This record gives sequence, structure tokens and C-alpha cells, in this order.
Amino acid sequence: MEQTLAASGSYRFNRISFFLNGKDILVDLPPGISTLDFLHKIMHMYGSKCSCNEGDCGACTVVIAQARKGTIVYESINSCLYPAAKLHGKHLITIEGLGNPEDLHPIQKAILEHHGTQCGYCTPGFVMSLFALLVSTPHPDKSEILAALEGNLCRCTGYQSILDAALDLSANTERSDILPLYYREIEPKLFTFNIPAEEYDRSEASLHMIQHYHKAHSIEELCQQLARYPEARLIAGGTDIMVQVNIARRSFERLIDLTDILDLSEIQKEQDGIHIGCGVTYSQIMDSDIIKRDLPYLVELCSLIASKQIRNFGTLAGNVANASPVGDSLPLLLVLQARLALMSQERSRELPVSEFFVAYRKTALQKGEFIREIIIPVPPQDAYIDTMKSAKRKSVDISSVVSAICIPKDGTALLAFGGVAATPALSKIFSKLYQAGASTEIIAERVAEEFSPLSDVRGSSSYRKQMIINHIIKYLEGHDDKASLAY
Ligand SMILES: Cc1cc2nc3c(=O)[nH]c(=O)nc-3n(C[C@H](O)[C@H](O)[C@H](O)COP(=O)(O)OP(=O)(O)OC[C@H]3O[C@@H](n4cnc5c(N)ncnc54)[C@H](O)[C@@H]3O)c2cc1C
Ligand code: FES
Ligand code: FES
Repeated sequence: MEQTLAASGSYRFNRISFFLNGKDILVDLPPGISTLDFLHKIMHMYGSKCSCNEGDCGACTVVIAQARKGTIVYESINSCLYPAAKLHGKHLITIEGLGNPEDLHPIQKAILEHHGTQCGYCTPGFVMSLFALLVSTPHPDKSEILAALEGNLCRCTGYQSILDAALDLSANTERSDILPLYYREIEPKLFTFNIPAEEYDRSEASLHMIQHYHKAHSIEELCQQLARYPEARLIAGGTDIMVQVNIARRSFERLIDLTDILDLSEIQKEQDGIHIGCGVTYSQIMDSDIIKRDLPYLVELCSLIASKQIRNFGTLAGNVANASPVGDSLPLLLVLQARLALMSQERSRELPVSEFFVAYRKTALQKGEFIREIIIPVPPQDAYIDTMKSAKRKSVDISSVVSAICIPKDGTALLAFGGVAATPALSKIFSKLYQAGASTEIIAERVAEEFSPLSDVRGSSSYRKQMIINHIIKYLEGHDDKASLAY
């Protein structure tokens, strides 16, 4: 239940084990504390910086190494939003684990030599983003470097010097130059890690924003917990929830984390479509061979969402459940006629995404129910499918208007928008107009009349209507070109 918590009470602490810069750590965490607060307030390690505390600047970037499907993945994340309880069984690498003033890490040396630092506040974040990139991608090219750094802001350097340093590193270093030696000892331990996490109650006279942070370990346990505590809030990546905690200062009595449930982190192709588990992150979607082959536009869309760091722990299901009218994935899921597999202790059911959003930020989820999977039917090969996002910046920006279109060669044409109504919505008239052969101008005008967008900081109502028109013109003109290639 969201409420203002009393200044004293019983809190459920998380006792977790993990590795920090090559060392074993066993620690008791106040419920829901972020990794950045853990580093600053418990470990007194101040190398990772806090600037925005909401995932926008990248100054707090750290790297998480974890075992996934027989390999160790190294991913950058925003430590200000990443709940520290998630670190259990993982390896947290911070700027302190790479170099020091007497013995700089090669990335730090390159940034220094290329004059890529001035006030230095952003530098640890840039170093950690480059570290994750160089460990995961041998000799990255310029576009891969820019994608890895899109979540890092610098107010001083103008970026070119940082890019020069990254290009130099890409050309002249190998993975073995970048990884600190302790990785050899830690990686095998990540594969075999089996220490259970513990939780225990502690009475305290301090104010915590979150009272209980529980990690579920099986679907059965998750259903039981939701049945027992129907007011509890689920947390997947936490990229929406933790912003509410850090910035809006919202308190939560009970959060239930589902990301340790391996069954919910799968992407599978079945007869009725591609099943994406609710624990699957955007980065996992972008790396999936199934998605790359059958739903390439979903990969493209994910690359427009937030930043590399956020995509490394934010989930598609979290985007759906959050039900923001400008959630970027929602128009595409609508035109692909995706369905949600919903589950509670009592029952399982499927619901089309088009029936999920019932009013502004209100969904059809019932008490004790969660989204288990998103099921996306594989569209015909010859369908024209595309998405478009209008925002002020290319990365780390919420859309003013977002849209998606699906025109199968012989089926119903679908067009959906976000940011132009209280919920993401399919156009009710597009299909008829398109099939009747109406001109692009008529279709664009009529669809714009169908919606009544609000004015807010991201755009006025008239701007949004114009975006509807622009998106449609671009789609339908682009469609002619793409159609001639596809057919
Ligand atoms: C800096 C920044 C940039 C961002 N940029 C974008 C952007 O470009 N486009 C965009 O669309 N969004 C953006 N977001 C919003 C956010 O990252 C996404 O909505 C993300 O997909 C949320 O996923 P999550 O796993 O982190 O959700 P969480 O924060 O864990 O949860 C979000 C909500 O969903 C509920 N929930 C989570 N999983 C389930 C489930 N399985 N069943 C039922 N309920 C569930 C939670 O209770 C909560 O209410 C941005 C956020 C930040 C901080
Ligand atoms: S402090 Fe800005 S992203 Fe974390
Ligand atoms: S060096 Fe000052 S913000 Fe980047």
C-alpha cells in the first residue's frame, strides 16, 4: 500500500551476498535501498556520483556481471535506480574497482590523454559505460560506442574528446587489457553461486521509503505473496518505481521483486506466437535471435527507449503494466495484436493488449494478478510494420507522440498512437479508410480528428495533432517504397 510511513516501525531487511570489485560481501540492507545509496551510505565509496537520482545523467553508472545462459554478461546500469537487493549472487564493479590515481585503468588513461575530462563529475559514469562496452563487444565501431554512451551526460567536454578516447581504446586494446585480473577468480563463482538470500525483521526508528522488499523465487511463491498481500506492488527493473521513490518521495509498504524467477526471464517461440516473460529486459529482447529474426521492428523500437543502462534492467512487461499513455512499446504491441498472459493464485487468463488499458494509467489487472508473459503473434513476412517516436532528444527522452503501423498484404491495416489520448489507442477509422483507398491526406486529417490530445510540457494539443498527421504521411509514403521492396 502506498502511504507515508511512520518514522519508526518494523522493516524487513535483506541479507545478501555478492561480489564487489573482486571481494566477497555479506551485508544487511535496509529495504529497497538503491545501489548508489548502498555505496555511499553503507560502504562509504563515493566514486560513483549522484547528479539526477532518476536515471537521466549516467553519473552513477556501475557495471553488473552475472551468469546468464552459460555465459557471464557485463552490463552497465544506473545505480541510483537499481535496488541493491538485486545484487545477490552478482558481481558489482564500480570505478573504485578499475583504477586509482597512482595506477589508472586503460580507459581512465585514454580519457585523460584525449582531454575527455574537465570537472570530472561525469567521468566515472563514462568510464563504467565504456568498460561494459569494451568487455562485451570486441573493437566496437563508432555507432556502438555512441549507443553505449547515450545515457551519459557531460556538461563540460562537448563529447568529441570522450569519443576520441573511446575510438582509440577500441582500436588499441583487447578485452584482456580492460578486465581487472580479479574477474578470473569471480567468474567461476558466479556460475556456481548458491547461497540463499535471507530476510529478517528489524525495528527501527528511522524513516525508510519502503518497508518490505521481498524477492520471490518461484511463480507459485509470487502468486501466494500477491494473494496474501493484494496491496503489494510488483517490481521488475524498478526504472519506474525507483524514480517514484527517489524523486516523488513515494513510500511503499511492500514491494515484491520478480526478477529472480528464471521461468519468467525466457523468450520462446510457440505456435501462437513469441512469448516474452515478464522478467525479460529490453537488452535481452534486443539480443534475442528469435526477436531479431521474427520481430526486427521490436528491436528497433527498444533501441529508442531510454538509454543502454535503463534497457539493461527495465522490462517490456513493466512498460505495459505502467500503462503510461506515452509508453513507447504500447502502440507496437497494439498493432501486432499482442496478448497478455495474466496470472494469479486463482486463475490464468489471456487478454488482448487492446483491452488492458481501461482509463488513464488504469489497467484491467485485478487484485493479486500479474502479467506473466506478453505473447506476440508472428506477423506475415510481407506485412509492412513500422514505429515512430517524436521526442525532443534521440535518447533518454519520453515521447510526445509515439505510433506504430501494421499493414499485412491482404489483412486489416492497424495504426496505433501513444500520447494523443488518456491511454495508448488503436485508430478506429484507419483500417476502413485505408481499405477504401482514401488518399493519404484524407486519412491523416480524419485520424487526427479522431483523437483529442492534451497539452503538457512535452507538446501542445495542436502540436500533437500535427504529429499524428506527420507520422501517417511518413508511414504511407514510406510504405509505398518499402512495399515495392518487400513484394
Ligand atoms: C531515465 C529514464 C528514461 C526512460 N525512457 C523511457 C522511454 O524512452 N520510453 C518509455 O516507454 N519508457 C521510458 N522510461 C520508463 C521505464 O524505463 C519503462 O516504463 C520500463 O519499461 C519500466 O520497466 P521496469 O521493469 O523498470 O518497471 P518497474 O519500475 O519495475 O515497474 C513499473 C510498473 O509496472 C508494475 N509491474 C512490473 N512488472 C509487472 C508485472 N509482471 N505484472 C504486473 N505489474 C508489473 C510495477 O508494479 C509498476 O507499477 C524511462 C525511465 C527512466 C528512468
Ligand atoms: S544519478 Fe543520474 S542517472 Fe543516476
Ligand atoms: S567533465 Fe564536467 S560534466 Fe563531464
